[in-house]
Amino acid sequence: MPGTRFSDIRRLQSVDSTNRYLLDEARAGADDGVVAVADHQSAGRGRLGRRWEAPAGSNLLMSVLLRPDLPPDHRHLAAAVVALAATDAVDVVLGLELGIKWPNDLLALDGRKVAGVLAEADVASAAGGPDGGGAAIVVGIGINVNWPEADTDLPPDLVGVATSLRQQLGRRVDRTEVLEAVLVALEPRVSDLATTAGRIRQVDDLRARCTTIGTRVGVELADSRFEGTACAVTSEGHLVVDTGGSRRTVVAGDVVHLRPPGQRHGALGAAADPE
Ligand code: BTN
Repeated sequence: MPGTRFSDIRRLQSVDSTNRYLLDEARAGADDGVVAVADHQSAGRGRLGRRWEAPAGSNLLMSVLLRPDLPPDHRHLAAAVVALAATDAVDVVLGLELGIKWPNDLLALDGRKVAGVLAEADVASAAGGPDGGGAAIVVGIGINVNWPEADTDLPPDLVGVATSLRQQLGRRVDRTEVLEAVLVALEPRVSDLATTAGRIRQVDDLRARCTTIGTRVGVELADSRFEGTACAVTSEGHLVVDTGGSRRTVVAGDVVHLRPPGQRHGALGAAADPE
């Protein structure tokens, strides 16, 4: 894309996972800014070991390789800027407003999931300096552009949970237009990661778009679960939850937006659980 670091765009017809592809490229020395976009993934990866699936040619499946000058405890922000850029792009190209459910799910105003983000760091990256700067982070995003077209396309467990831009707008959407707009919006946001003032700007944007803040949430950790009210996002992009007696900071985990009784779904994510 002219005027951005994203000049090397690898367009793949089919790949197991664009994240896996770029992590391998990173280990082989690929530069900051390489993009992989696929028509189809045979083993698309979702968060927390889930799968990410979409019919060939329907949705935007893309990853970017970043080597940000970012303190290790701020790495969450690399994923956050991709989520923010995607909300920018959907707004600019389609006039559709999306919110961000912590950590990085993009939700339509009806609470259904339109996109998910998965960041994977190459921890062994030789390019990472002593402070972690320059280490490779691959951030993948799957945006439900044209699938599902209707709820009947979805497996039963995703009905009421997942939606697409097409379903929201009632018309087909051009994937390339969305891809290009994401990359244009991403450039200044990635540049911001290198400075304290820039990172503050990005976290402020995340706070402004994060629909989790002020919401009653259930937090699923590796071996426990708790509930509370999400009250803040820290400068590293972590979520603070008020449990009544104390405040807990959530760095990683799954967050469910709890709804008043009578409403069927929390925003659980559109990824299918592994079998
Ligand atoms: C989530 O679970 O919400 C995150 C889903 C991330 C899916 C995208 S699709 C492109 C990239 N390649 C992958 O294997 N996963 C990410």
